[in-house]
Amino acid sequence: MSEEVVLYETIDNVAKITINRPSKYNALNSAVRSALTEMMKNAENDPNIRVVMLTGSGDKAFAAGADISGFPGNDSKTVRPAVEMGQDLCKYIESMSKPVIAAINGFALGGGCEIAMACDIRYASANAKFGQPEIKLGIIPGYGGTVRLPRLVGLGVAKELVFVGDNISAEEAFRIGLVNKVFDSIDALLEGTMELANKLATRPGIALKLAKQSLNNAWEMTLEKNLGFEVDAFCETFDTEDKEEGVDAFLNKREAKFSHK
Ligand code: COA
Repeated sequence: MSEEVVLYETIDNVAKITINRPSKYNALNSAVRSALTEMMKNAENDPNIRVVMLTGSGDKAFAAGADISGFPGNDSKTVRPAVEMGQDLCKYIESMSKPVIAAINGFALGGGCEIAMACDIRYASANAKFGQPEIKLGIIPGYGGTVRLPRLVGLGVAKELVFVGDNISAEEAFRIGLVNKVFDSIDALLEGTMELANKLATRPGIALKLAKQSLNNAWEMTLEKNLGFEVDAFCETFDTEDKEEGVDAFLNKREAKFSHK
């Protein structure tokens, strides 16, 4: 039986999703794209899952991009479904009601970097390398790289990365705001990411979902609409059991225990 290209593991309330083509640096072929989409949907639809952690198998790569071996012979028409599927996957991750944390354990290039950018929080190991090298293949990023990269690091830095196509270190990625934290080793990365995931799993689910939507909106709509959404979302949290619990816990100097209702 062939090996699963994406692994799905449940650890308490965390879904750990692992891209599993280590011999190909976890390059994203259509099997990986569809399995990743399916696994993200599993996590979204499972009420016991509160947080998703996404990583890559082995010690070389998170994902070294779209599988280039599928490029020869494709033209503008035949390549479209693949790139649209990659974009849809990224949009799905971004719109999930649960936080998705990328644990980047090596190369995050092209589509790998783009999937990481669609996640809510990026942690990396010191050996991680980031880049949008498409220009060196005569193409451009297609899973949202030209759109999400400038939002994270600013237009000038994004243009240099996309125009030049060279990789940057984890340290540089941290400096420009592409990753939130860098860990000395992959083990420390996985441990640190799981620690964050477990912490987020204890936070109130409805408030987390609304906070994610409101933060994502910052890029999408006008200031007026975004502020209006935030007011509505804020008011909505006042109808939740979690708000009663969180406020009562504060007032009584105890730890809150949220029910996500
Ligand atoms: N698509 C398909 N296969 C890929 C791949 C990709 N994006 N990235 C790596 N691989 C494969 C290599 O073909 C090689 O397979 P093989 O052993 O069967 O030949 C294996 O993964 C290891 O890669 P290799 O190039 O030998 O390792 P390296 O350490 O010398 O270099 C990279 C690692 C990531 C720098 C290099 O593989 C690379 O540049 N990959 C392409 C990155 C890219 O352009 N991504 C954007 C695509 S749009």
